[in-house]
Amino acid sequence: TFTMMSLLLFSHSAMAETVVGFAQVGSESGWRTNFSNDMRDEATRRGITLKFADSQQQQANQIRAVRTFIAMRVDAIVVAPVVETGWTPILRQAQRSNIPVIILDRNIRADEDLYLTRIASDFVEEGVKAAEWLVDNVQGECRVVELQGTVGSTAAIDRGTGFNRVIDAHDRISIVRSQTAEFTRNRGKEVMENFLRAEDPRSICALWAHNDEMALGAIQAIREAGLRPGQDIRIISVDGIPDYFLAMANGVANVTVELDPHLGAPTYDVIQRYLSGDTDIPKLIRTTGDVFTQATAEEEYQRRTQ
Ligand code: AHR
Repeated sequence: TFTMMSLLLFSHSAMAETVVGFAQVGSESGWRTNFSNDMRDEATRRGITLKFADSQQQQANQIRAVRTFIAMRVDAIVVAPVVETGWTPILRQAQRSNIPVIILDRNIRADEDLYLTRIASDFVEEGVKAAEWLVDNVQGECRVVELQGTVGSTAAIDRGTGFNRVIDAHDRISIVRSQTAEFTRNRGKEVMENFLRAEDPRSICALWAHNDEMALGAIQAIREAGLRPGQDIRIISVDGIPDYFLAMANGVANVTVELDPHLGAPTYDVIQRYLSGDTDIPKLIRTTGDVFTQATAEEEYQRRTQ
């Protein structure tokens, strides 16, 4: 009987497909959409069933999705958190149900024991690189306006920290206006319009946007105000989405710090390793990205859209 049972159990586990629940932030930006598509494509390639929840930038929706995944007894849960706080109770529930949780992209403030690993870039470093470009490429006094990402998200907090850390050492550079535009193109345009009304538009030297999507909205606002984005106002951003490469190729944007959207492969690698008994998984897996300017924008655009 024992042999029969273990045989049955073995054949089940060998045959049963892996089911992963993914609580995604939403579809606020082109970068996010590329990341969601990569998660879906890579799951299909590996024969993994992906249960996908678009949380529309609401943490409450994400928590509900995770609760559903726990009730479904999925093999692993992936969370790309909207904001950093408020995760402990739901992660405890997942842990009690022995379901591993993988955090992608933005960070959370919770005990490390509550998740298996986090796969993410260094957001402070992105802000640092963005500011270094400004320091190196713009001479004299520079008044900067800032479009922040979602309030309470690592991508906004850390990019802001990194950027400020660099410009604090340069008296000639200052941020004169700063407001969230929630990482979306529409809000980016609206908030930039407000900045252009509140300030003398000709006194603004640069826009620092926490993502390309908001920068693209702002470029539109700057054009409509009769100014030349990329020249009168330098455009500095993060992500590296194709639309932004096109904007750089056309001379209306200056620089972006790339954020890698290909998180599918490293995520499923970790899940498959864990499910096959590997416990030697690092708590943080770093992704990296380069700085891109107008110099290579055209070829990068072609490469990314072929
Ligand atoms: O968390 C990463 C950020 O989220 C991306 O830079 C932005 O485009 C997205 O909305």
